[in-house]
Amino acid sequence: MRPAAKIAPSILSADFARLGDEIHNVAAAGADLIHFDVMDGHFVPNLSIGIPVLESIRKITRLPLDAHLMIEEPARYIPAFVKAGADVISVHEEVCADLPAIAAQMHGLGIRASVAINPESAPDRVIAAAEHFDMILVMSVHPGFGGQGFIADSIAKLRAIRQELDRRGLHIDLEVDGGIKIDNIADVAAAGANVFVSGSGIFGHRDYRTIIAEMREHAARV
Ligand code: DX5
Ligand code: ZN
Repeated sequence: MRPAAKIAPSILSADFARLGDEIHNVAAAGADLIHFDVMDGHFVPNLSIGIPVLESIRKITRLPLDAHLMIEEPARYIPAFVKAGADVISVHEEVCADLPAIAAQMHGLGIRASVAINPESAPDRVIAAAEHFDMILVMSVHPGFGGQGFIADSIAKLRAIRQELDRRGLHIDLEVDGGIKIDNIADVAAAGANVFVSGSGIFGHRDYRTIIAEMREHAARV
């Protein structure tokens, strides 16, 4: 049984001057979670938003907050993100030597644990540690910027991961992040993704309700 499809707008592409309204608008339009991209200028060549912004968002929405930490030494910052209100945190496998330990840290703090993987990284380590996690996040662009083109090889990686999860009876979420638009969401869903991050694909559209409904419908066509 495949976990339910979830649409996760990435606020990296929102209008930050109107962030509260943007979040209310995607929530009213049917978003299932809010994807929150954290960048440190080291793991990725960009900076974004962090703990105080998450804390403010926590006060204005009940939607689960999906924090994607594109940072080095994520274990140092997990307690602060949990305190600020994150419901699920993705840490990158490329900067985590001990995946079961960081999953245990997140579970010990009462949140869902997720592990993210870059386009150029082989999926072996996340597959081996999958039973420790509630979600795996497959990056389908090089992390650091919104609005990039989808990397087609991500389809095979998603399929390989979902097949292995199914083989082992692990019904965890498989999130895909980067370049997800109405024209490729059915393909990533068919490959096994069930959580769909979209930044420019949603915030770049003038009608959030229509685009989220269409994305959900395309994702269900598998
Ligand atoms: C990229 C971020 C993504 C980004 C996706 O580093 O992790 O979440 O916001 O943006 P789009 O959907 O525009 O590719
Ligand atoms: Zn992200």
